[in-house]
Amino acid sequence: MSKATDELFKNVISHAKEYGFVFQSSEIYDGLSAVYDYGQNGAELKNNIKTYWWKAMVQMHDNIVGIDSAIFMHPKIWKASGHVDGFSDPMIDNKDSKKRYRADQLLEDKIAKYEADGKTDKAAALQTAMDDALKAEDLPRLKELIIEQEIACPVSGTRNWTDVRQFNLMFSTQVGAIADESDTIYLRPETAQGIFVNYLNVQKSGRMKIPFGIAQIGKAFRNEVIARQFIIRMREFEQMEMQFFVRPGTQKEWFNKWKETRLKWHLALGTDEAKYRYHEHTKLAHYADAAYDIEFNFPFGFKEVEGIHSRTDFDLSQHQKFSGKKMQYFDPELGEDGKPYGNYIPYVIETSIGLDRMFLLTMINAYEEEDLSTEEKQDSRTVLRLHPALAPVKAAIFPLTKKDGLPEKAREIMDKLKLDFNLQYEEKDAIGKRYRRQDAIGTPFCITVDHQTLEDDTVTIRYRDTMAQERVPASQLEKIIGDQVSW
Ligand code: GAP
Repeated sequence: MSKATDELFKNVISHAKEYGFVFQSSEIYDGLSAVYDYGQNGAELKNNIKTYWWKAMVQMHDNIVGIDSAIFMHPKIWKASGHVDGFSDPMIDNKDSKKRYRADQLLEDKIAKYEADGKTDKAAALQTAMDDALKAEDLPRLKELIIEQEIACPVSGTRNWTDVRQFNLMFSTQVGAIADESDTIYLRPETAQGIFVNYLNVQKSGRMKIPFGIAQIGKAFRNEVIARQFIIRMREFEQMEMQFFVRPGTQKEWFNKWKETRLKWHLALGTDEAKYRYHEHTKLAHYADAAYDIEFNFPFGFKEVEGIHSRTDFDLSQHQKFSGKKMQYFDPELGEDGKPYGNYIPYVIETSIGLDRMFLLTMINAYEEEDLSTEEKQDSRTVLRLHPALAPVKAAIFPLTKKDGLPEKAREIMDKLKLDFNLQYEEKDAIGKRYRRQDAIGTPFCITVDHQTLEDDTVTIRYRDTMAQERVPASQLEKIIGDQVSW
């Protein structure tokens, strides 16, 4: 990360705190690592991102429906899905500093360093060696590589390492009062399994016909070995996932469709296309026959925001095997041979986006420190150029002064508009200061009520992006705001 981008990232993090977007969890107790709380503006922004996703995925597709499944699920589900046996990271401890690391992360940092120093051959050789070791699950080899590469503990500089162990990322807890191994349940590490185990309930009760999708937004939990980059890698986070059930043999076509559709969803927010790229997985998970990530260029480089995975019939087949219940769908439509397709286990295309990563992307993309200096005076502002539909507050209402009936008139205008929009009322400080506070949280409109308003019912509307102001009848506000902030 260059000095400028490092500074930009730090500024966004402190801005997020200062203006009520994101706080460290349990801050007064010195925080809890990799866990964050969303403040008053963060909660609004997060809800607006969820709404944008839900509308695009559920409301705009008559063959996709949404559900809300429980976080706790039968423990056998995680056996069937492969998470109990396979959802782990290789972990290593430094004996002197007593700090814990992901072995692959230490090697990846070294690869990044080789690349930054222009030693591309060394970077490629280490990448291959690491990939081979990970694929073969050869943990001693990972340790050997760490020692060969003379990787020092980033904190203390020492090289005294333990062996590498596999560390399961699922959080577990006990059901009921008596602790017994058979009562162990997990906090879900992905929302997808809640969709898989409900697919026939939804299909039958909703009379869904293939191809159809089930969408869900919800919390997921992973005991990440290391916390990194603010809300990029959290232990409690939120996912927006959609499983699309298709006829076997058509998965490639649907995979390509969803890959394109999802990128369009990102770009429809007005983000520069150059900030996005696809990353194709060359080494596929055991259940997948194709996988792409949608990556965004964060200040610390391109990072995954969303995954599009062709998961075959793996999950449903596993649940059929472990539950003993049939997971087949009966397809009455006729194939090319004139016969019904009949019973089969559908193939699944998954789109899975991390809500918190999308939130950070949105903040970073919107954040601007704008120089407004003229020859006469130096000036600047921090503005969040959020898409108006995502902005936490749609409009702020300001009486010019606190007297002469202006607050009452401002409240009257606000009472009409608040049925449709999230608004903020502010009467403290000079108007210029109030504008700046709203710019900092991305409010697209500021409405000032002055003495003329009492005479002719017009107000001054000031636009966040251009800072232009115009006088408009108060009766037009609903339309002006509505045109911009609705989807
Ligand atoms: N059901 C598929 C699945 O869970 P994943 O690639 O492990 O796939 C999907 O996760 C998305 O969830 C990622 O693209 C990322 O945006 C988000 N995500 C994963 N782990 C996360 C974490 N520890 N903190 C924040 N977001 C995370």
